[in-house]
Amino acid sequence: MTASNKEELELDLLLIAVYRLTGFDFRQYMRSSIMRRVENRLSLEKLNSITHLTEKIIHDQNMLPKVLADFSINVTEMFRDPTFFKTFREEVVPFLRELPEIRIWHAGCSTGEEAYSMAILLHEEGLGNKVKMYATDMNEKVIHKAEQGMFPLQKMQLYTKNYMAAGGKKSFSEYYKVDHEGAHLIPSLKENIVFAQHNLVTDGSFNEFHVIICRNVLIYFNIDLQLQVFKLFNDSLGPGGFLGLGSKESVRTDDSIRFETFHTQEKIFIKKRRMLEQNIL
Ligand SMILES: C[S@@+](CC[C@H](N)C(=O)[O-])C[C@H]1O[C@@H](n2cnc3c(N)ncnc32)[C@H](O)[C@@H]1O
Repeated sequence: MTASNKEELELDLLLIAVYRLTGFDFRQYMRSSIMRRVENRLSLEKLNSITHLTEKIIHDQNMLPKVLADFSINVTEMFRDPTFFKTFREEVVPFLRELPEIRIWHAGCSTGEEAYSMAILLHEEGLGNKVKMYATDMNEKVIHKAEQGMFPLQKMQLYTKNYMAAGGKKSFSEYYKVDHEGAHLIPSLKENIVFAQHNLVTDGSFNEFHVIICRNVLIYFNIDLQLQVFKLFNDSLGPGGFLGLGSKESVRTDDSIRFETFHTQEKIFIKKRRMLEQNIL
């Protein structure tokens, strides 16, 4: 067995241990990025093999949370990639206007900035009252933070710039109040958002949505896992429903997953209607 094969085996065993101990399954995440994070942890802990790390997560209760945190990349911002939100506002919102009620799922929402951005956008488009948003993440800590709707004041300059580039119609400062802790988003933005823990790898569909936004999450999954998640999205969207992905992501299809491109540049896709419905409409 080569050294690299041995290391792969050690990584497999580490991921099995994490799964058995926590229920979080990283076995089908992109191998290269998981390996990078493990190597970084080995160097921080001055451990000389992955097996030593596995031993530590089993016997030292302080180590497991560190490894879980290493595997969870939570980088996000409000109106991230402003042109995505601008396109959504200009090209998707007209379709949503026709609906009596709008259900949106933000999958992998991290600390909530993406969902709050959508809440602002829909409020400005006069759809705030008829939207129900579900914002989920596998990481309970970020969900708890998202529920608070409080962000560092220093970030507001960037968020204001993003908001304007995304076609914002007001002054961004109308959406938050500042105190010694930071910038608190106004409570009305939270009214239509349910934040909840949901794991895209192990949990199933929980509603039928008109829009699913899952940006900068699938980039961490291998192809098989991406297909599994696209199947979940396919099952969770109504016919003609929209799927918004991150700028480096694209939809993968097979016989059971049926999406067509709605906007190439901004990675917005639409779930195909069934043949019968296509003929009727
Ligand atoms: C880089 S952040 C992206 C946040 C936001 N969507 C954005 O684009 O700014 C990725 C998020 O995906 C979450 N995530 C990773 N694997 C997940 C899974 N299996 N189920 C649900 N969320 C997951 C992470 O916890 C993290 O909060």
